[in-house]
Amino acid sequence: MSIVLLVASTDEHLREMVRENLLNISGARVASEYAEVSSNLYIRVLQDLERHPDAAIFVDLAGDPEASLKALEKVKQAAPDLYVIAANYAVDVESVVHAVRAGANDFLSLPLRRTEFRDAITRLEKTPRRASTGASRLARIYTFLGAKGGVGTTTMAVNFAASLAQQKQQTVLLDIDWNANDVAMHLGAAPQYTLSEVAENLSRMDQSLFEGFVARDPLGFFFVGPPDNFDHRGYFTEPMFREFSTFLVEKYDSVVIDAGRDVSSEITLTALHSSSAVFLVTTQDYPAIRNSQRYLSFLFRLGFTQDQVRILVNFHQKKTGASLASIEQIQTTLNQPVFYGIPSSPAVLASVNKGRPFVGGGEPAGDLERSFRAFVDKATQRKSDDLKKTA
Ligand SMILES: Nc1ncnc2c1ncn2[C@@H]1O[C@H](COP(=O)(O)OP(=O)(O)OP(=O)(O)O)[C@@H](O)[C@H]1O
Ligand SMILES: [Mg+2]
Repeated sequence: MSIVLLVASTDEHLREMVRENLLNISGARVASEYAEVSSNLYIRVLQDLERHPDAAIFVDLAGDPEASLKALEKVKQAAPDLYVIAANYAVDVESVVHAVRAGANDFLSLPLRRTEFRDAITRLEKTPRRASTGASRLARIYTFLGAKGGVGTTTMAVNFAASLAQQKQQTVLLDIDWNANDVAMHLGAAPQYTLSEVAENLSRMDQSLFEGFVARDPLGFFFVGPPDNFDHRGYFTEPMFREFSTFLVEKYDSVVIDAGRDVSSEITLTALHSSSAVFLVTTQDYPAIRNSQRYLSFLFRLGFTQDQVRILVNFHQKKTGASLASIEQIQTTLNQPVFYGIPSSPAVLASVNKGRPFVGGGEPAGDLERSFRAFVDKATQRKSDDLKKTA
């Protein structure tokens, strides 16, 4: 039988050990790693279970025991059939009982010993399992991260949200790029309310309140971003983002995030950790490719897999001179497939100047719009299948 494991641990070394130990067991592999064991772990777990309904999870409770037990409890509530192997340095009766109460099916002591781990996998193999899907009605979070400034991150996020809204998905576009704060500008809007007001109202947030005060694009999606005043940035903290994003994934079909390019921000990191897919937007010029390399290795260290981080080449040109790399060269350099290339087109600037997305502009679709729609279809394939199934 094949064994698919999700691994949650703040300890990079332990995640690596689990991965290596599984390599020695035929048919076993790690499908996803989470470098955080926190309250929104269940969001990513549910998203991964859609892809791997037979997966089990290995949860390291040693980082922050209280928070990780709570995280495990939430995971188990969201996916009651999920098989959980908990691990901890503390192996006293109380710690084990707490782990079991939080939902652990098996318990391993740390540091991890090869034979004990193998035995746990054998027990997992022997346990009849039910597929752990079904519970997830959560939104997918699609995060756009720029490998450099000006590569079109906002353009991609805005048109992605617009395309989803046109497919009648309940969509929220979130701008967390405090430096650029340009989603509203791309949409020709100057919203009255921002993430500051979201922060102020978080404790009483519900869908009607949210939809009552954030801006709504004529295409039907909601959008909200930072206040224009840099002095106000401290009012929206990472725990607030966590709470807000949990509200969003529970109430909407899709959340699209313009993350800009600042991966040192706590909010961006949490956004990345909650995402079902991260699109690393880049171009064919060498500085952008070099930066993509840095971003990719950073994301892989955070536990993202190749499947979750997708390279999106914007301003794509087939003819490459000395200063531009071809798609093949980019793939070789990054050691990762390019997910999609969006052509360079004067229609983009025209649309930004009009303050409207280029998709659904009412004019006959050109190459750019066709290409972008094909990208959206590829990026959301699973989702549209799910919607058909549940319709
Ligand atoms: N495929 C494209 N073809 C032609 N122009 C494009 C394309 N994509 C984006 N642009 C143009 O490039 C400029 C930068 O785009 P955008 O604001 O989306 O980039 P960004 O990465 O979000 O920038 P910033 O770092 O300022 O946030 C805009 O003027 C936009 O019209
Ligand atoms: Mg931008």
